[in-house]
Amino acid sequence: MTALPHPIADNKLISTLSGKKQDRPPIWLMRQAGRYLPEYREIRNKAASFLDFCYDPKLAVEATLQPIRRFGFDAAIIFSDILVIPDALGQDVRFEVGEGPRLNPIVTPPDLKMLKPRHDATRLGPVYEAIGLARSALGQETALIGFCGAPWTLATYMIAGKGTPDQAPARQFAYRFPDDFQALIDLLVEATTEHLSVQIQAGADAVQIFDSWAGVLPCGEFERWSLEPIARIAEAVKRRHPQTKLIGFPRAVGERLTEFAKIEALDAIGVDTSADRRWIGRSLDTSLPIQGNLDPLVLLAGGAALDRAIDNIVEDFSHRPHIFNLGHGILPPTPIAHVERLVARVRGEA
Ligand code: CP3
Repeated sequence: MTALPHPIADNKLISTLSGKKQDRPPIWLMRQAGRYLPEYREIRNKAASFLDFCYDPKLAVEATLQPIRRFGFDAAIIFSDILVIPDALGQDVRFEVGEGPRLNPIVTPPDLKMLKPRHDATRLGPVYEAIGLARSALGQETALIGFCGAPWTLATYMIAGKGTPDQAPARQFAYRFPDDFQALIDLLVEATTEHLSVQIQAGADAVQIFDSWAGVLPCGEFERWSLEPIARIAEAVKRRHPQTKLIGFPRAVGERLTEFAKIEALDAIGVDTSADRRWIGRSLDTSLPIQGNLDPLVLLAGGAALDRAIDNIVEDFSHRPHIFNLGHGILPPTPIAHVERLVARVRGEA
């Protein structure tokens, strides 16, 4: 078998990320591997815990490939989680069934001492092995995406010890202890920069930085804790890997998308469900590739509402390079038939 060029050439997703508009947009879905697939639920039960699953290269590759086999998406995203970084920093990370992630919380500055001064990259070895295996298993037509959580989003889970509706614990911590919080953000910038770089060396063709909680930050805090750290990561990764495409996904930031659009090292911006496509059309340079932004709930609902929503997004973004995606992760009860319909319709086949 001959090795594919890296990053892969002649690929619809990579070409779109390079700024070339396609006749029909490439498509992949955030959380495309997961509980809505029966074949995922089956292998999920084989690992003792969710992190054991993420750190088992054979299972992780299988979960990565399942949605590609079923739907033929234009990209695979490596099966892992953003919380492998706190785990590699020595924080206790668990996933409770039906409840989501649970971490040993960082309540006051002395708790930061539970973290290692540098992340343990050997712990993440299975992730990089899985990326290499997945890249060899995929054809040239399917790009492989690596990812990490942005420092702010990671910090929200590390401080609260769980998901919360408004991330009040991390916001409080940042107001009360700005220097300690800055030190945590700096540690995360270093760890995630390294994590993305090694994923690229292992075979990722593009990488995405998820800042799922950027939208809760007020002005001032937003620049310091979301925008600047992401810019630092993107610039460092781009310096080391100029050929690799970078996608930023700052969720629910509204008009502050213009600030992300100014980060030159980012090749594309992922936009959430609430993003106003007409405003994007007026406000973000039409050469900037945009990814998004179908409502996961309309994919769950299906029917005429789904067809209409798909057509509107394809039409609204038809004047720029566009990657079709959801505005946030796929919901576990989503019927498989709705995903099949979505892929066919985006490709103009239904
Ligand atoms: O297919 C893919 O997109 C790749 C895999 C992936 C997972 N998590 C697997 C996963 C990716 C890209 C993530 C990112 C992630 N993880 C984010 C950023 C994106 C977002 O959704 O906002 C965040 C905040 C996390 C943290 C996390 N991991 C939470 C909050 C949860 C629980 C939520 C839930 O749906 O249960 C997880 C667990 C998780 N990560 C699952 C999967 C498939 C479900 C766990 C299971 O199978 O039991």
